[in-house]
Amino acid sequence: MPRYILFNLKKNLIKILVITVSSYLLNSCKNVPSYHSNSDTLIEQKVDSLLALMTLDEKIGQMSQVRHFDDIVDEDISSKFIGSVIHTQGPTPGADAKEWQDRFIELQKMALSTRLGIPLLFAVDAVHGQNTFDGATIFPHNIGLGASRNSKLVEEAASITAMETQATGFNWTFSPCIAIPFNEKWGRVYEGFSESTVLTSELVKASIRGHQGVLSDKKTVMATAKHFVGDGSTDFGQEGGYTSLSMQEISEILLPPYREAVSSGVGSVMVSFNSISNVPMHAHKVLITDTLKIGMGFDGIVISDWKGYSRFGANAIINAGVDMVMAVDGDLDIFQNGVKTGILNGDINHKRIDDAVRRILRQKFRLGLFKNPFPDPELVNKIGCEAHRNKARQAVRESLVLLKNAKNLLPIEKKIKKIVVIGEHANNSGLQSGGWTIQWQGTHDNYKGATTIMDGIKNTAEGLVVYDEKATEKHTDADIAIIVVGETPYAEMFGDIGDGNGAHKLTLSEEHQKYITTYTDMGIKTVVILISGRPLVVTEQIKISDAFIAAWLPGSEGAGIAEVLFGDHDFKGKLPHSWPKSEEDFENKYGPNFWDQSIVPLYEFGYGLRYY
Ligand code: BGC
Repeated sequence: MPRYILFNLKKNLIKILVITVSSYLLNSCKNVPSYHSNSDTLIEQKVDSLLALMTLDEKIGQMSQVRHFDDIVDEDISSKFIGSVIHTQGPTPGADAKEWQDRFIELQKMALSTRLGIPLLFAVDAVHGQNTFDGATIFPHNIGLGASRNSKLVEEAASITAMETQATGFNWTFSPCIAIPFNEKWGRVYEGFSESTVLTSELVKASIRGHQGVLSDKKTVMATAKHFVGDGSTDFGQEGGYTSLSMQEISEILLPPYREAVSSGVGSVMVSFNSISNVPMHAHKVLITDTLKIGMGFDGIVISDWKGYSRFGANAIINAGVDMVMAVDGDLDIFQNGVKTGILNGDINHKRIDDAVRRILRQKFRLGLFKNPFPDPELVNKIGCEAHRNKARQAVRESLVLLKNAKNLLPIEKKIKKIVVIGEHANNSGLQSGGWTIQWQGTHDNYKGATTIMDGIKNTAEGLVVYDEKATEKHTDADIAIIVVGETPYAEMFGDIGDGNGAHKLTLSEEHQKYITTYTDMGIKTVVILISGRPLVVTEQIKISDAFIAAWLPGSEGAGIAEVLFGDHDFKGKLPHSWPKSEEDFENKYGPNFWDQSIVPLYEFGYGLRYY
């Protein structure tokens, strides 16, 4: 018999033996107790049985997360035993939700075709709605939800987001961000709920409940508390910078929302880009293993952030307690080979790998993926449906904070004769939504299904409404000017203000300042709506205008703002951050905030006017 036939025979015999043993073991737990039961004890038994069958390559594979394009050719899913797929910036998985689902079903089938048939986790940054899908319901960013202080609303928003996320084929979201932002110069202030630990903790609980519900029911997704820890409290608000808080401050100010997340059963925690006590957070064993896993009893997955392996110390991050690695952008082989070498040469203890894989498998069982690994096609028609948009509109209304209302200019009489609306942010759903909307860095265009602030004004006002985007004409006969100004979209480090010479500033652009003075100089009653991911230094603009509203980043339901402007609803929002009065407020490490009372803010945390 030729050698290659003998070799194949031998290989096949081994394969048959492995499959028989594994299916015996799996089936033995399939019978009594059932393989698909929800009970935690049973899940632990199933995890142990599965783990006992796994080769080192299969284990390392489970610890790998890749993009569905670029990082892999499809066959890698099975040949490299990939544990999870992420969709972020880049080619979308298809043209519509069905195609997104189909693409992920195709990849899932490849994972299921492997020897042990372990299903994939599909992850996405659905941070204010399923914001990577054009046509989804997009909620206000977390800072706006923080202003609402309404935990029921936060829970409902999260459960809608979860449903639309599942509808596009995912079972895992990298949300909520539970940062405590200390400095408005940080480009991610809007991703967190508030600078207050107490308020953040309250909303974190609601968010986890809403996202995860009953994890196995296919309408919810596994949530991720991020970024552990100190992301928002770096010196000078630098993304991925140095967090110089003491361990006691970290424990008292930054960790409580994580304790809430863990006791609410959060499925995963993402590690942060910043460093603490001169150690990159990814390699911070004391915080990841001793504090989060052992101290808080977190039994879910610790996921690295983008290219965490090659950026923050390779095997040191695994030893510190990272369980799954975002092995993207050229990192997959570096990670898989690096960990394997680490285990073989004793740098990494095999027990650490087993702990990591155990956590990953546990969550896959909790999500019910072994029983039902595919998304539900019925959910597709829920994306952007009316009920979801109504809820997002309520969130928009409740997030608005009224900072000034001289002589009760607001609410505006619906019958008022002539309204002039100024500013490109007034009629552009992309600009009103901020980063992480359709694209990673957001979009400057209208997107599917969204309404603008102008749409709402036009539908509500009974008199003449004129839109003059750049305030090029002088509407001297206007009874009121509604001027919408603010920041252009940004995400992550692109939003950092740094020394103030970059793309973003603590103040309004000169052009936007001029929109306001054009009308205040004419003596026309002026309402300013500020679209921004953080409080800005607008002391002068507040002073000269008659009414001033902080609208944050409202998302797809911009028309909801008119419901409050014209008095169908009252203002409810309260400042989730202290509001700065001058750029000098930021000369030191932090701006004015709850924790550092040395700077007197223009408005304190919690400020917000109402009509009645
Ligand atoms: C961000 C994370 C995000 C990840 C995946 C990173 O750059 O810091 O918040 O979840 O990318 O897109």
